[in-house]
This record gives sequence, structure tokens and C-alpha cells, in this order.
Amino acid sequence: MAADGVVSAYADDDAERDAEASVRPQRLAEFVGQHRVREQLELLLHSALRRGTAPDHILLSGSPGLGKTTLAMIVAAELGGGLRITSGPAIERSGDLAAVLTSLDRGDVLFIDEIHRIAKPAEELLYSAMEDFRVDVIVGKGPGATAIPLDLEPFTLVGATTRAGLLTGPMRDRFGFVAHLDFYDPPELEQVIRRAAGILGVETTEDGAAEIAGRSRGTPRIANRLLRRVRDFAEVRGDGVVHRAAAQAALRVYDVDTSGLDRLDTAVLRALVDTFGGGPVGLSTLAVAVGEQPDTVEEVCEPFLVRAGLLARTPRGRVATAAGWRHLGRTPPGPAQDALFAEPDKPGDRP
Ligand SMILES: Nc1ncnc2c1ncn2[C@@H]1O[C@H](COP(=O)(O)OP(=O)(O)O)[C@@H](O)[C@H]1O
Ligand SMILES: [Mg+2]
Repeated sequence: MAADGVVSAYADDDAERDAEASVRPQRLAEFVGQHRVREQLELLLHSALRRGTAPDHILLSGSPGLGKTTLAMIVAAELGGGLRITSGPAIERSGDLAAVLTSLDRGDVLFIDEIHRIAKPAEELLYSAMEDFRVDVIVGKGPGATAIPLDLEPFTLVGATTRAGLLTGPMRDRFGFVAHLDFYDPPELEQVIRRAAGILGVETTEDGAAEIAGRSRGTPRIANRLLRRVRDFAEVRGDGVVHRAAAQAALRVYDVDTSGLDRLDTAVLRALVDTFGGGPVGLSTLAVAVGEQPDTVEEVCEPFLVRAGLLARTPRGRVATAAGWRHLGRTPPGPAQDALFAEPDKPGDRP
């Protein structure tokens, strides 16, 4: 995805991360959309504050760029405590995790990104830390090794994952609050764009913001990125204002189609229709056809294509829907394939 960094759903370099940090909402009230999750979190946090205890551990799942890291930071800010940030892949040994846990102060938030990728021994250490605020630190090796129990300060763990389905049962059960972030509607993305434009000092018109919102793959990170790219374009080739014509011209330059499909989304849909006759085809075969990792196709492209109604996951594999065919300007095949669409769509299905 890095080569397509312009509209990638990942935060793939330092400059992008800095640009993101400048427009990141700091408090729950500034967080756009996701009303249910926001309301539930508000209740969880405010009741904990009232009781003077640490709230339940929080698990956030959803596609890249939907606001998981932002919410983790907001949780710490709302609680007024400290925030420690680490990630599953960064915790290789349980000792690494023990060191982080024992350094937490009362009421701190520990954010573990990509928590589904945490190493097994560390995961087991996390169980007792989450449940009893206690860890057994092993000192020494072999038969002489002893476990020293250490008490931890009460803390709140915020875990984030793009793949909730990969979490083990015991891990998932230890989160008292589980929230799934969904893609955003265009009006919500317009709000994200107007807010960011205000912070960046970029003049936008209503139709300019709407044009970008409609092409942002339902993802705030992409909305903010496209806003910056359209701003660049407007400054160099236009009058500096982000209006509809500037947005349309700029997004043509960046290969973003009118429904927001990026290069990889389009490649997946094309492969499905042109190479595999609309499917059904297995995930790994489809991934090879577009030269991507199956995980990227499954975690980044498919959720959006499914949500846009262009692709369906069936027990026999991925199929292009009639709308998917039409999106590419093709005529959908006849009733012979209709039966495929009738089958239930099982999320996380990996034939
Ligand atoms: N609900 C939201 N309201 C406003 N901006 C948002 C929202 N969610 C995400 N963003 C913006 O999108 C960017 C990416 O969000 P982030 O929390 O890093 O996503 P994730 O961790 O899920 O990949 C942030 O810089 C933030 O500015
Ligand atoms: Mg993140």
C-alpha cells in the first residue's frame, strides 16, 4: 500500500503521521460520527470518574483509519490520566510487557495497538494483569526459576485491532467494553473535512467538501489526506480554494474514482470480474491476481467493497455483485449467477 500512499488507509510515514496528529480530535465531543460507540463510551468513562475507579478494559475493532488510535487517546484525556502506547508486534517477550505494566500509575491508560498480534506468553501475562491487576514475574531460569507476584496499579487497557476475529476467547472475554467502528457516511466525512480544514486554515466550499467526502472510502484518515492533496492542487493550479472543480480535477490526478475506490479496490473488482468471470473465487487466489497480501485484501479492500455493495463473501468464495459489474461499466451475467448472491454473507469467512 505504501506506493499508493496518497489514499492509503494506513499511516505510512512520519510526515503523514504528523499531519494526522495536528487534526486528531482530542476529546469525545469533537469526535465525529459513531454515535452509539460515543454515547456508550461517555457513560463508561463518566461513571468510572464518578466512582473514582478505573473503567473496564476497552476493545476497539475496525478497518484502518476509522479512529481507533484517536479514541484510545481520547479515553486517556477524558480520564485525565497518563497514556502509554505500545503494540502487539512490539511486545516480543513477556518481560517487555511486565516492564510496561509495572511502570503504570494509578488510573493510567495502556494502549496496545494491533493487539491480535501479541506473542502468546505476553498474552497470558496480560490475562492476570487485566483481571486482578497482578503479574507473576519469573526470575531466573530452569528449575531454579521463581515466580514473584507483583501488584499493579489499577489501569485501563485499550486494545485496538483490525481483526477482532483473530483474538482468542479468553482475551476477548477480559474486555468489559467491546466496540466496533464502522465506515462513516458522506455527511459525517464532510464534517471531518470541514473540521480539519478549519484547523489547517484551508478555505473549502460546501460542494468541495462534499466531493471529497463522497470519495473517501468511508474513512476519516483518507478524507483528511484527500483534503490535503486537493489543497495542494488548489494552491498550485487553482485559486487556493477547495471547491468542487478543484476536488474533481485533483482526485483525477490521484486515481480516486467517483465512489472513492482507490487503485487497489478497483484492481480487486476488475480481477474478480475480468479474470474470474465474477467469481466465486478464493481470497488467496484473488490476492495473487492483484499482487497483494491476502490480509490487505481482506482487511482493507473487502470491508469497503462489501459495504459499498460491490462484492459479496459467500461460502464458495468472493463474488462480484450486479452493482460491482455495473460499476466497471459491464453488464452483469444472467440469473445463472443470481443464486450465488442468495447465500448468507458470513463475515470473516475465508474459503
Ligand atoms: N471520528 C473522527 N472524527 C474526526 N476525525 C477522525 C475521526 N476518526 C478518525 N479521525 C481522523 O483520522 C485519522 C486516523 O484516525 P486513527 O485514530 O489514527 O485511525 P486508526 O487508529 O483506526 O487507524 C486521525 O488523524 C483523525 O484525525
Ligand atoms: Mg491506529
